[in-house]
Amino acid sequence: MPLPTGTTVQYGDIVLLVGKDRRSFIRTVSEGRRFECHLGFFEYDNLVGMAFGQQIKTNIGRQLFVLTPNIDDIVTHLEREGQIIFPKDLGYIALKLGVRSGSRVLEAGTGSGALTTTLALLVGETGHVYTYEMRQKMQERALNNVRRLGLLDRVTFHLRDIERGFEETDVDALFLDLREPWAYLEQARAAIRGGGMFGAIVPTMNQVLELIENLYDGPWFFLSIEELLLRTYKTIPARIRPDDQMVGHTGYLVFARAVERDSLDDMNVKREAARAAAEDETADEGNGVDTDDRDSNR
Ligand SMILES: C[S@@+](CC[C@H](N)C(=O)[O-])C[C@H]1O[C@@H](n2cnc3c(N)ncnc32)[C@H](O)[C@@H]1O
Repeated sequence: MPLPTGTTVQYGDIVLLVGKDRRSFIRTVSEGRRFECHLGFFEYDNLVGMAFGQQIKTNIGRQLFVLTPNIDDIVTHLEREGQIIFPKDLGYIALKLGVRSGSRVLEAGTGSGALTTTLALLVGETGHVYTYEMRQKMQERALNNVRRLGLLDRVTFHLRDIERGFEETDVDALFLDLREPWAYLEQARAAIRGGGMFGAIVPTMNQVLELIENLYDGPWFFLSIEELLLRTYKTIPARIRPDDQMVGHTGYLVFARAVERDSLDDMNVKREAARAAAEDETADEGNGVDTDDRDSNR
């Protein structure tokens, strides 16, 4: 994989170049070729052997830091169309899905490939990512993004509507980023191994409600609804304070574990109890009674 692991730049490395104005570029170090930007140009040959963290001078004496890109940088620089999953959510999604070296992970839709790329970097050489997209143009863009990072052998791209189901079975985790994730829960359950993780991101609470209702009635356990708020700060030592603007909303994250139908039957009693408790809660709310401890474990 061309993401650098050494301390000095080599041909074929993917590097992050950052000017003092913070404008940044991700490029592959190519023999005999030239990098050009608003700060001038330099030959890639002159980068080879330089230690990461140093600066390279352009033909007009301007400088750029030579760095190794993080997943955050890579996702920010992807060619994209439409909504992508933001880095703040990507990291948490990967953590909640339990993605690690060797994991087999499935996702839909591919979109611009922000999650695909993140997963491909995390599953390592022994894992694999299967991604489904129904629009050819979107798939091509994502495929180019993944190819540019040298990760194509870690990803299988499927061009099809997931209504027709998934080809893979026993995947460790499955994530849906599309408008109506609840419509594909049967297909999802058929693809995930027992105990594996399901996740989805949706922008509205109306969609969360629909998804939760459908998960609640199916072979799923440990349901959770989460939202991440990230506040960034000005880094000027004399006046450290929050930035004036922040991303107010990206999406709600819903997770669940896939369980066997038999064990689900055992849980029906609990589920009915939870429903009854919810009804009681509604009644009690009118009386001002605190019912927090009656939550079900689904
Ligand atoms: C919001 S984008 C996904 C963005 C992607 N997660 C990323 O981070 O770059 C949603 C994608 O799902 C695709 N899609 C929607 N419904 C689909 C379906 N039933 N089967 C396959 N792909 C679908 C859309 O074409 C679109 O490209």
